Amino acid sequence: MILLLGGSGYVGSSFRSLFEVRHIPYRSVARAEVDYYDPARLVALIEQTRTTFLINAAGYTGKPNVDACEIHKAECLLGNAVLPGVIRSACEATGTPWGHVSSGCIYSGRTADGTAFREDDPPNFSFRRPPCSFYSGTKAIGEEVLDGASGCYIWRLRIPFDHCNSPRNYLTKVLSYQCLLEAENSISHLGDFVTACFACWERRVPFGTYNLTNPGSVNTRQVVDLLRQYLQPQREFRFFASEEEFMQKAAKAPRSNCVLDTTKSEAAGVAMRPVHQAIQEALTRWQP
Ligand SMILES: NC(=O)c1ccc[n+]([C@@H]2O[C@H](COP(=O)([O-])OP(=O)(O)OC[C@H]3O[C@@H](n4cnc5c(N)ncnc54)[C@H](OP(=O)(O)O)[C@@H]3O)[C@@H](O)[C@H]2O)c1
Repeated sequence: MILLLGGSGYVGSSFRSLFEVRHIPYRSVARAEVDYYDPARLVALIEQTRTTFLINAAGYTGKPNVDACEIHKAECLLGNAVLPGVIRSACEATGTPWGHVSSGCIYSGRTADGTAFREDDPPNFSFRRPPCSFYSGTKAIGEEVLDGASGCYIWRLRIPFDHCNSPRNYLTKVLSYQCLLEAENSISHLGDFVTACFACWERRVPFGTYNLTNPGSVNTRQVVDLLRQYLQPQREFRFFASEEEFMQKAAKAPRSNCVLDTTKSEAAGVAMRPVHQAIQEALTRWQP
């Protein structure tokens, strides 16, 4: 039995869809149902449900966007930094293998050599390497808490998108923002991401950290060109003149824009499609 935490969320819902489509038995548990922040209750839940693999898709992302984490700091720390430690203890106590949904937002830009960030590069957008957003700081602590954990995958997601129009979908965000920030990023097709996460477990890929983004990178102008090509040919998109203007007019916390190296996941056999192919497929199937 797969035990899913955070199944009501944007990422958790995609795991649920994967399990439904593939008829994989799972149990999705909400906080209101079982207080999984209580280690003893989590251990009991794992034992009662005979969990063979646990997925943590729970966390605090901030609504309507990451700026909310600058205000709701306690909730953010609890969801992103404390909870992974509680799950680690429960999984190690019961010998349960598991996977944690982390984020590539612990990085900014590229490495000093101009290459993409590998899994073992230390975060450069974190409380230890400021400046960072409060959200990114807590996600980096969440990974630190899992350092040396046995039987644990850390799956790094970045800027999820797919073909379903939704306020959480990156493509919808680009369509709806008044003004855009030009930046280069690695991004993750949500369906590809959850498939790759679960493939890690199914194929018994070695435990550890994996950058699970679609190989390659995109900049905002390339995404805009694709949106014009597939959805809104007449649409004009406005851009901020600089990151400074973006920070002054549209944001409280600095944003992580970064490029991740995916060679480890490719070598492990859980590669995702190239990023441009994944965006084009999402736009071809777009559901308004
Ligand atoms: N969406 C992104 O852009 C993105 C990008 C990279 C990484 N991630 C990571 O993916 C994970 C899931 O994100 P999501 O986008 O699916 O978030 P979401 O839609 O806001 O869902 C959050 C889920 O976590 C649960 N949860 C447990 N403790 C929580 C807490 N203290 N505060 C808020 N929610 C809590 C919620 O359960 P209830 O139903 O009980 O509230 C809900 O099921 C997070 O760890 C996030 O950092 C997300």
